[in-house]
Amino acid sequence: MNILVTGAEGQLGTELVRQAPACGVVVTAPLLAEMDLTNHARVEEVFAAVRPAAVINAAAYTLVDRAETESDLAFAVNAAAPAHLARLCHRAGIPLVQVSTDYVFDGRKQTPYVEDDPVAPLGVYGRSKAEGEAAVRGTLREHLIVRTAWLYSPYGSNFVRTILRLAAEGRELRIVDDQVGSPTCAADFAEALLSIAGRLRSGDEIPWGTYHYCGRGITSWFGFARHILQTLTARRHIETYRVVPIATREYPTAACRPVFSALDCSRIQAGFGINLKPWQESVEQTIDRLLA
Ligand SMILES: NC(=O)c1ccc[n+]([C@@H]2O[C@H](COP(=O)([O-])OP(=O)(O)OC[C@H]3O[C@@H](n4cnc5c(N)ncnc54)[C@H](OP(=O)(O)O)[C@@H]3O)[C@@H](O)[C@H]2O)c1
Repeated sequence: MNILVTGAEGQLGTELVRQAPACGVVVTAPLLAEMDLTNHARVEEVFAAVRPAAVINAAAYTLVDRAETESDLAFAVNAAAPAHLARLCHRAGIPLVQVSTDYVFDGRKQTPYVEDDPVAPLGVYGRSKAEGEAAVRGTLREHLIVRTAWLYSPYGSNFVRTILRLAAEGRELRIVDDQVGSPTCAADFAEALLSIAGRLRSGDEIPWGTYHYCGRGITSWFGFARHILQTLTARRHIETYRVVPIATREYPTAACRPVFSALDCSRIQAGFGINLKPWQESVEQTIDRLLA
C-alpha cells in the first residue's frame, strides 16, 4: 500500500518518511519543489503517476504570525489545497488524513477541547486550517482530520530548538506563562499516524471523522521551556540557565493565540488504540537526539 505524504520536508513529514519503513508502510513523499500543493495541475499529475492508496497531508503554511499579512498564501495552502486533495481522493475512492491544529479553537474553554467543540479561530492561520477541515469533511466521507498542538522535533523551527539556541547564547529567557497547551513530539505523532495507516490497509471498518492527538499532560510555554532547560542541565551538568515567567501582554505578537488549547485525546485512544506519551518524556528523548 503506497501512501502519498505531503510536506515531506517539514517536522511531521520528515518523521513520517523516517519511520515508515519500520512500520511496514510504503510512502511516496514529494518535496515542495516537486509538488507544490497550490499548483493543482501538478498535484493531479503526481496523483496519476503514484496512484496512492491513501494520502496523509502533512504540508501546511505554519507561520502563525506572518499569516496575518500573507493570508492569500495561508488560505491557498491550508484551505484550498486540502479541498483539492479531498476532491482527488473522492474521485480515486481513497482516504485522506488531514492534519490540523489546536489553533482552530479560541481558548476560552477551561477543560480540554473535544473534537465536536465549535471552532472559533483567533487568527488567519487558525481560520485557514478550520476552512481546510470543513472542506475535507464536506467532500469526502473517508477522511480523518487529526488535530495536534505545539509540535516540535529535532528539525526545522520549533520551540525546543529555539530555547536550546537562546540558552546556548547565555540569554535570560522571558517566556509566556499564561498560555497553556500540550507539547507534542513529531516523532510520536508520526508513529501514531503510521499505526492508523496500518489500519487503513487492514480492511477493518474505520471510524472516519475528527480526532485529537497530542502529548499527555498540560503545561504553559514557561513550563515547557523550564523542562527543556532542566533536561539540558541534567544532560550537560551545568546550571547557568535563567528563565522568567511573563504574561502574554509582555510579549506582543501579530497573531492572537488561544490562552488554553489543551486537547482531549480520548477518542483517538479508544478508536485506534493509540497511547499518548507524557510530554516531558518525549522532550527528553528529542533533546537526547539533538545532543547525540
Ligand atoms: N508546528 C506546530 O506547532 C503545529 C501545531 C499544531 C498543528 N500543526 C499542524 O501539523 C502539521 C505539520 O506541521 P509541521 O510543524 O510539520 O509543519 P512544518 O514543519 O512547517 O512543515 C510543513 C511543510 O509543508 C511545506 N509546504 C508549505 N507550503 C507548501 C505547498 N504549497 N506545497 C507543498 N508543501 C508545502 C513546508 O515547506 P516550507 O517550509 O518550505 O514552506 C514544510 O516543509 C500541519 O498541518 C500543521 O498545521 C503544527
